[in-house]
Amino acid sequence: MLSRLLSAACILVALKANQSTAQSYHGPEDPRIEIALTLEHPVNGISTTPAGRLFILYARVDGSTGPQVAEYNRTTNTSTAYPNEQWNSYTNRSDPATHLIRTNSQRIGPDGNLWLVDTGSPSFGAPVILPNGPKLVVVNLTTNEVCRVYNMGNATLSSSLLDDVRFNPASNMAYLTDAGAPGIIILNLGTGDTRRVLVDDPSTSAYMPVSAEGKLLHATGGAFEHIYADQHEVSPDGKWYYYQPSNGGMSMIETKYLDLAFYNSTLAQVLSQYRQPYAHTPSTGGTAIDADGNTYVSDTDSQRIITVHPNGTMTLLVQDPRLLWVDAMWIDTQKRLWMPAAQLNRGTPFNNGTSYVVPPLRVFTIDIGIGPSPIDHA
Ligand SMILES: *[C@@H]1O[C@H](CO)[C@@H](O)[C@H](O)[C@H]1NC(C)=O
Ligand SMILES: *[C@@H]1O[C@H](CO)[C@@H](O)[C@H](O)[C@H]1NC(C)=O
Ligand SMILES: *[C@@H]1O[C@H](CO)[C@@H](O)[C@H](O)[C@H]1NC(C)=O
Ligand SMILES: *[C@@H]1O[C@H](CO)[C@@H](O)[C@H](O)[C@H]1NC(C)=O
Ligand SMILES: *[C@@H]1O[C@H](CO)[C@@H](O)[C@H](O)[C@H]1NC(C)=O
Ligand SMILES: *[C@@H]1O[C@H](CO)[C@@H](O)[C@H](O)[C@H]1NC(C)=O
Ligand SMILES: *[C@@H]1O[C@H](CO)[C@@H](O)[C@H](O)[C@H]1NC(C)=O
Ligand SMILES: *[C@@H]1O[C@H](CO)[C@@H](O)[C@H](O)[C@H]1NC(C)=O
Repeated sequence: MLSRLLSAACILVALKANQSTAQSYHGPEDPRIEIALTLEHPVNGISTTPAGRLFILYARVDGSTGPQVAEYNRTTNTSTAYPNEQWNSYTNRSDPATHLIRTNSQRIGPDGNLWLVDTGSPSFGAPVILPNGPKLVVVNLTTNEVCRVYNMGNATLSSSLLDDVRFNPASNMAYLTDAGAPGIIILNLGTGDTRRVLVDDPSTSAYMPVSAEGKLLHATGGAFEHIYADQHEVSPDGKWYYYQPSNGGMSMIETKYLDLAFYNSTLAQVLSQYRQPYAHTPSTGGTAIDADGNTYVSDTDSQRIITVHPNGTMTLLVQDPRLLWVDAMWIDTQKRLWMPAAQLNRGTPFNNGTSYVVPPLRVFTIDIGIGPSPIDHA
């Protein structure tokens, strides 16, 4: 009887310990974490060059206005609209083809250019301006000028949320996630042609709403917030594409099937049979991949970063109460992981128009001892 009681108590303790990982974390700060930037407004993306230039993306979920994409100067602590004011000055009277309407992500690609993913939708949940709003804008960091625009109008729907981009230099393809209409978009970087695949597939859909700080998110109007295909990475050998909806559950598929499906519509129809589960990740703000193929995943519920090893095993990298909705992460040549704590869940899109974002906003770094994947960026 006693042993039965004991084992029941053990199960209760085990359950509690397990549950605490899906709740907001109020434990101690981790001294390995350093503050890289202190900002007034949420930033949901960071890129650095080996020479030390720094680009940031303002999420504007705190109701602030101003440029979306900026170059940040760490000497003066100032942001300058990038590539210029004109691209960052969209109003409802602007040409959607030549202005950033709402940039969801930015990153320096393996070619050394800065790639901007523009949803083409003026505010979170608003219809996409078709055909010229959704686009991928490529900026040359030497000339600081836009050198190419990939129009994504043929690959997006009115309900799309063009989310993020990754590259496969060997096939000259890029992959984009659609978080508003479940699917993956394959883009031929040579021709600019596109194909949507894994449309409404369980691996790109969200069976649960996104959760953060222990609570499910609601969209304006009150409905639960579902964010479909969002985070993704390509393995350093170019073989695997990892992808997931924001509420978690990461899948993997060989890039060769994506690339073949770009040309073969029959294969595109049956692509789901080539995907498999990779890791049971939690609700996620953003990811990054290192040169050894480890994927870092930010847990929006419990302020931690999880490492998904290439074999799919997950371990804890760091947990700290300040890691509030860490969004798209970045690995620099000094082997640091950049973690922008964007507090997105506290922003206007998820609180019926009110912002509960608490400034200052911090971007943190932690030494991970491994550099970036060379096919991701230098
Ligand atoms: C930052 O600003 C300082 C002072 O104006 C300037 O000397 C420096 O070149 C700037 N750095 C970058 C990366 O633009
Ligand atoms: C810039 O910000 C850092 C902290 O993020 C601070 O240490 C430094 O004094 C600031 N520099 C200026 C010129 O304000
Ligand atoms: C465009 O923006 C202006 C100023 O914010 C606003 O008054 C107007 O109603 C908007 N027009 C449309 C079509 O949304
Ligand atoms: C950027 O522009 C410079 C100057 O025209 C050129 O030499 C360089 O190749 C361009 N970079 C890329 C990545 O295309
Ligand atoms: C979109 O599709 C139409 C019809 O196939 C084609 O003519 C057009 O060039 C495509 N646009 C882009 C930007 O690929
Ligand atoms: C959201 O705000 C609108 C307009 O202010 C209001 O009518 C509505 O009741 C609010 N909904 C919720 C769920 O708070
Ligand atoms: C296209 O894919 C289908 C399904 O995998 C396959 O049966 C067919 O042989 C492929 N066609 C070509 C031209 O490779
Ligand atoms: C998976 O990889 C991790 C990290 O390299 C290693 O510790 C673990 O033993 C591996 N698990 C299996 C089942 O191979």
